[in-house]
Formats: sequence, C-alpha cells, structure tokens
Amino acid sequence: MRLSVSRQLPRLPRRGIAGAAIALAGLVATAAPAATAPAPAAPSTAATAAVSPAAALAPPDIPLANVKAHLTQLQSIASANGGNRAHGRPGYRASLDYLKAKLDAAGYTTSVQSFSYGGATGYNLIADWPGGDPNQVLMAGAHLDSVSSGAGINDNGSGSAAVLETALAVSRTGFQSGKHLRFGWWGAEEQGLVGSRYYVNNLPAAERSKFSGYLNFDMIGSPNPGYFVYDDDVQLEKVFKDYFAGLGVPTEIETEGDGRSDHASFKNAGIRVGGLFTGAGRTKTAAQAQKWGGTAGQAFDRCYHSSCDTTANINDTALDRNSDAVAHAIWTLGAGSVPPGDSYENTADVAIPDNGAAVTSTVTVSGRTGNAPPTLSVGVDIRHTWRGDLVIDLLAPDGTAYRLKNSSGNDSADDVIATYTVNASTEPANGDWKLRVQDVGPQDTGYINSWKLTF
Ligand code: TRP
Ligand code: CA
Ligand code: ZN
Repeated sequence: MRLSVSRQLPRLPRRGIAGAAIALAGLVATAAPAATAPAPAAPSTAATAAVSPAAALAPPDIPLANVKAHLTQLQSIASANGGNRAHGRPGYRASLDYLKAKLDAAGYTTSVQSFSYGGATGYNLIADWPGGDPNQVLMAGAHLDSVSSGAGINDNGSGSAAVLETALAVSRTGFQSGKHLRFGWWGAEEQGLVGSRYYVNNLPAAERSKFSGYLNFDMIGSPNPGYFVYDDDVQLEKVFKDYFAGLGVPTEIETEGDGRSDHASFKNAGIRVGGLFTGAGRTKTAAQAQKWGGTAGQAFDRCYHSSCDTTANINDTALDRNSDAVAHAIWTLGAGSVPPGDSYENTADVAIPDNGAAVTSTVTVSGRTGNAPPTLSVGVDIRHTWRGDLVIDLLAPDGTAYRLKNSSGNDSADDVIATYTVNASTEPANGDWKLRVQDVGPQDTGYINSWKLTF
C-alpha cells in the first residue's frame, strides 16, 4: 500500500495536467539550472507521450545590430590582414574561424572543407543543425571571400553575416524544422565560384538528390539598393516575393549577370535555387529610384570590388529587410513536422517517501528536432499533505537539473499543481526527461499524480 503513514491523503479523481491547470490555476515560475548536485536516482516509471497539433512558430526578426556586429568583425579582420579577406590570404581563414567559433558555440556540427586553387588552399565552412529529415536538406549559403582590393563588406560580408545570424537564430529559438538545415560559406567565389563548385562536385549523387533547395545571398546591403529576387525556381522565388509583398516593398527579378554567384554551382547540379541581391555595378534607373528611393543614374554599389567596400558601404534598411527575409525563407521552407505545442505526459503515480530519497518520473521525448525552446513548460501535479517541504527539479536527458521548487517555498495548498517555465534551450529536446521530487520534512504522504512537458 502506497499511502500508509499517519495523515492519509484523499485520492482525487484522476485527471491530466491540462484539466488540473484549468480547475486550479497553477502558479507560473521561471526556473534556471539548479546549482545543486543531483540526488540519487530512484526507479522511474514508463512514459506516456501525447501529441497535440499546434501552429508553427513565426520566423524571428533578425536583429540588424547583430548582423552589423559581424560586419564590424569582418572589417577588423580585413584591416588586420592587409585590407582584404581574399582567397589564399590570411584574412580569409580568419573570417572563417570567426564564423566557425560562433556556430560551434551555438550547437552546430561544423566542418571545414579545403580545396586548392591558384596555388593556394581555399576553404568552405559547412554547418549542420542537428535534426530534421535527413532526406530533405534545405541549405542557405553565401561566399565569404572578398576580392583582394578591399574588405568586401557588402560583397559579401552582408550575405555571410545574414546567413550566420539566421543560423544563430535557429539555435536561439530552438526552431523545430522538419527539413534538415545546413548552412554554407564558400571560398574563392571571386575566382569563379570555385569553392561552391568544389562542394557540389564532391557531393555523392545520393546526397545531391536530398537537397530540397539551396538559397544564395550575395550582396544584400548595397548602399543604393534594389530589391532583386532570383527567378530560377518559382516556388523559392515566391517565398521571397511574398515576404517583400508583406513589407510593401516592390521587387524585381535578378538579371545582373545570371549565374554570377554560387547558386549557379547548385543549379548546374540540378538543385533548385533561390536567393536575394541588392545590386552591384549596374546603374539604378529613374523608375527604380522612384519605387525604392536612392539615387538614379548611380550604381547600386559604387564600391563594388573596390577598396571602399567597407562597413560604410552598407544600406541598413536593405540589410535589415534582407536578413529578415533569409530567416523568413528558412522558417517557411524548413517548416517543422513536429510543431511546437506538443505535449509529453506521464500519468503513472509515483509515491514520494516521507523525508526520504528523491524519486523520479520519466517522459520520453522523441521525433523532435533541435533543442528545447527557451519557454519549455513543465506542468506538475503532485498530491502531498504538507506544504513547503518538497524539492522539485526537472532533469534534462543529460542529467542537468533545473530547480522548479525548493523546500522553503510555501505553496498556497499542500498539493503542488503548478506550471513552471524553464529555459532549457541548450538541451536537445529528444531523450528521457525526469521530474525529480524529494520530500525533505517529516510526517508527509504524497505522490506524483502526473506531469507533462509542453514544447
Ligand atoms: N558575386 C558577384 C561578384 O562578386 C556579384 C554579382 C553580380 C551577383 N551579379 C550577381 C551576385 C547576381 C548575385 C547575383 O562578382
Ligand atoms: Ca530585423
Ligand atoms: Zn560576391
């Protein structure tokens, strides 16, 4: 018999957390990882997973300041390395190392692919976000090299930084993508799409066929900008056109030298491509200045391939809109197959020994991609006869403990029927999550009635 000590607990009718939360409005607290060491683990029960549908999360706004901070770093790298970030020059590898460190810290699986061109070693940087359908790869990329005459901040720090910041936003928000997300930064584009062609040519045919699309971003912050959308694939084109239509910004088809950037390498291999561009050396017409502002009769980028392609050579509005468009495309095209809002619940009772060892109850989360969201919800229904003497933690699959309640906290009732919000965004979603409960005072009876995680 589970409930054998002095104050017998009346059994309440069974119901799930959702019902309990409606009947007894739970408190909402925010928990951070607990500093304490995990208590000894007790046997846990089998999990029950329930899945409920919900709408996909909206794409995030990419902070312009973050994108510009990357451009400042690329500018510094160029300045410290002879004024450029060109193939075969130290500023190129330093640029790649800067991006790689950010991606590694954000949980990406990165790899550096080297190739040889013109007597120098070039490098591509590839970053995979763990999860998603491995048979549907959505890739976004940008060339990271500059010409040797300048720092290449619009061409193509702009595309490189926007793709980087979108990748970091995927990590920050715990985006649940259905497709597998991959990001790439190409070397030696300015030598004739060398890095991207090397990458594509070295993909086994079986890998090539898994690409659902490649999105290219080369020059997306031109100082006298136009808003050009690649028209190579109608579906990919539509995603960008819809985005700009939503902003009320007219677009045109990109025509300034088709095939003059890395998307051509993918298109030549039969992969669907799309992308954005704000113009290079071509002149803005009066009609274009009419609809976009800026200066007619002047190049979209007067510093194209010149030493003045510095951080001063950026139109902030264009860079902001295009960066947000990158995220919009990744979120729209990458859409999650297991949407946020899904819940995983355990309704098996677990007795809590009086003033004894901690007990745990497990829910197994599977089929998700990426990390837990920053607002992971933990619904707890514990029936207990005394207030203020329970310690409750959420344990991530790797054992990291997030303190939900400690014994000194008084509850309004003996039972703990509450919803806690936990930032566990550094934790992969899939795996065995545990609710750990310990009674630290005398003379209690109680049990975990049910608990659930909502992503
Ligand atoms: N990548 C080209 C360069 O650096 C610039 C360019 C010209 C471009 N036309 C384009 C980029 C069209 C994208 C689309 O020389
Ligand atoms: Ca923004
Ligand atoms: Zn370029």
